[in-house]
Amino acid sequence: MKIVNVVGTRPNFMKIAPIIRAMNNDERIEHILVHTGQHYDAKMSNTFFDELKIPTPDVYLEVGSDSHARQTAKIMMAFEKVCEDFMPDYILVVGDVNSTMACSLVASKMNIGVIHVEAGIRSGDRDMPEEINRLVTDALADYLLPPSSDAVHNLKSEGHHHEKIEMVGNIMIDTLKYAEEDIQSSKILSELGVKPNEYVTLTMHRPSNTDTEIVLREVFEAIDYVQEKIPVVFPMHPRTKKMINQFGLQDMINKMSNLITTEPLGYFDFGKLTSKSKFVITDSGGIQEETTIYGIPCITIRKNTERPITISKGTNKIVGNNKYAIIECADQILQGQWKKGEIPKYWDGKTAERILQFIQEKLI
Ligand code: UD1
Repeated sequence: MKIVNVVGTRPNFMKIAPIIRAMNNDERIEHILVHTGQHYDAKMSNTFFDELKIPTPDVYLEVGSDSHARQTAKIMMAFEKVCEDFMPDYILVVGDVNSTMACSLVASKMNIGVIHVEAGIRSGDRDMPEEINRLVTDALADYLLPPSSDAVHNLKSEGHHHEKIEMVGNIMIDTLKYAEEDIQSSKILSELGVKPNEYVTLTMHRPSNTDTEIVLREVFEAIDYVQEKIPVVFPMHPRTKKMINQFGLQDMINKMSNLITTEPLGYFDFGKLTSKSKFVITDSGGIQEETTIYGIPCITIRKNTERPITISKGTNKIVGNNKYAIIECADQILQGQWKKGEIPKYWDGKTAERILQFIQEKLI
């Protein structure tokens, strides 16, 4: 059986790595890896291939950045050619980025089966580009492999037949566990001059936070308060860097003497940074999950989440981007008042095994 595995952006790489390793264990599966090139900077892409030992992509589509429509269209045109040449039985897509949706649309129109890993998560917020990608991908996919019970529930309530759905667990955790030794060997804390449990990690790249000046300024006002109490480490996404320059916020940031900005970090360094933080402030999806695994308090600067299990079971709280709300939560954590959290079902590092088993039992 022939499968095309698809990746495009940073969070896709950690999801595909364990799946490729699992597929290598069954010689009946012939698989290739396609990288759309949605992310192309070395620090957003190559680093992860090296660290996670992901094989060099068999096909690189080089689509790069563009508006949503143009980026999606470029991926579709290039990916159609890949499907014509390789003629797969299935494509396997992960997550909710533009590459995920674009390739699913191409395959389903060519009558190629689509397997979606991380299916069924929903924020209910259609202003988020990822929510549109999730809805479209799940509508088209032939097999839906959700990470958690809430995602299974969403799929069923949208009318997906239970035979298409297999709850496999959270694939991100496979990579986290696989890389645990390398993560803990990272020297990033001493390189940055911070000590375990005595700093905060900040990440922010969602358009809802970065693309409006008032909002971005307000979040930084909250960060200014936090960094006066405890150092804040901020690996900066290219989108955020671009918007800080565009809005002229560089001076405001330079004045914060306890705010340590860095380039985007590799997987090992970032894992170490998260795992040893006093707490994390983020608008990322995956980091809400990783903090739940590490038991580190997480302040999510968004109005909603597609990962509610990190709130009901984990260490996450949805706070939004109001500065007083962020400050209040930061103070609570610094005073030792935060929930402990527990690990959701099947976030155990064995998700890729379950995906392989599903393919073997249902598709071969
Ligand atoms: C994309 C995903 C988002 C994911 C994020 C992780 C979509 C709709 N969004 O958002 O779900 O959380 O990746 O990072 O698919 N850029 C670079 N170098 C790169 C890539 C991007 O400089 O390697 C800059 C470009 O200026 C680009 C901007 O970042 O215009 C945004 O990149 P894009 O891939 O469109 O979306 P992300 O914000 O990265």
